[in-house]
Amino acid sequence: DKGKYAHYTLKEINDQRLTVVHAGRQDEATMEKFCNILASAKDIYITGSGTSYHSALIFKHMLARFGKIRAETVMSSESQYALASMDSNSVLVAISQSGETADVLDSVRLAKNQGANVLSIVNVTTSSLARASDAYLSTNCGPEIGVAATKSFTGQLALIYNVTDRLCKNCLETEKAEFAVAVENIIANQASIIKVAEQMKDASDIYLLGRSLHYPIALEGALKLKELAYVHAEGIAAGELKHGPLALMEKNTFVIMINPRDATFNDTISNAHEIKARGATVIGISDRKDDVYDYWIEIPHLKEEAYYPIVEVIPLQILAYQLALAKNADPDYPRNLAKSVTVR
Ligand code: F6R
Repeated sequence: DKGKYAHYTLKEINDQRLTVVHAGRQDEATMEKFCNILASAKDIYITGSGTSYHSALIFKHMLARFGKIRAETVMSSESQYALASMDSNSVLVAISQSGETADVLDSVRLAKNQGANVLSIVNVTTSSLARASDAYLSTNCGPEIGVAATKSFTGQLALIYNVTDRLCKNCLETEKAEFAVAVENIIANQASIIKVAEQMKDASDIYLLGRSLHYPIALEGALKLKELAYVHAEGIAAGELKHGPLALMEKNTFVIMINPRDATFNDTISNAHEIKARGATVIGISDRKDDVYDYWIEIPHLKEEAYYPIVEVIPLQILAYQLALAKNADPDYPRNLAKSVTVR
């Protein structure tokens, strides 16, 4: 039931005020089993498709930075070419909202055939993936009806943070309620996002740039814009700008910089200047205003900077939704796409 909302997608974006908190709650025994299998693995592969693959990228980063644990990410659709050297000491972590994505289930089969353990993060706990796993964590965010993944993504991130925090023995700042408040704030103050959507209505190319943890969010924002608003959008690691993409920057190009105040801030600001000098329109998603931004979408400041992805993706979801409306596209049922991709 979408209740008072015009679309399921809008409802599900709003649901995130609560689901980012619920997702983190997990029964103790399952959490312990999941973390023990992960911590004792010889090698770890993390897989998923689409949005769930973007969670995989963040998981890898979190494990490396805070857990000093090395993991490799593999897109599920590429797994048949990449997952050939597993054994009984390997672990595959599969991330999937539906738990029914054919590519993901294929990667699980491949891992099992090589004797590896399978862990998963799912939203549908009765799914094939949950049943095939040695242990699974539930994102616990209720049914997601809109074709575009929204609350299941932030639910996956909340779990990833909890697992990481456990593996690093509580090295993350503990105030998890903090990001729930931040999500609430962004949802309550959408005027700047709607203004940007109006500006972008006729854009043919939108680029999203970020470094470190913000790069997967750039990819995720680009995916949302493609799916919902049918516009060419591309996520780029900001440091790669000078290695090619700078050649694309000109008047009428829109560039969204995902740039909260963390260790990546100054370098990304420098990139913004390089882009602006070529006449492109620069939009900053940040907790700090800067003159280089033509438009500033404010996000709240967080004490734990590792949590920014969960907060900064919200304005991108809202932007894609608003742009879909501005272009008369149905945000709940994008053309050519299915909610659960059970075919190869
Ligand atoms: C993006 C989207 C898809 C899914 C992908 C994986 O908004 O909905 O990219 O993320 O098809 O689906 P699950 O997570 O169900 O395996």
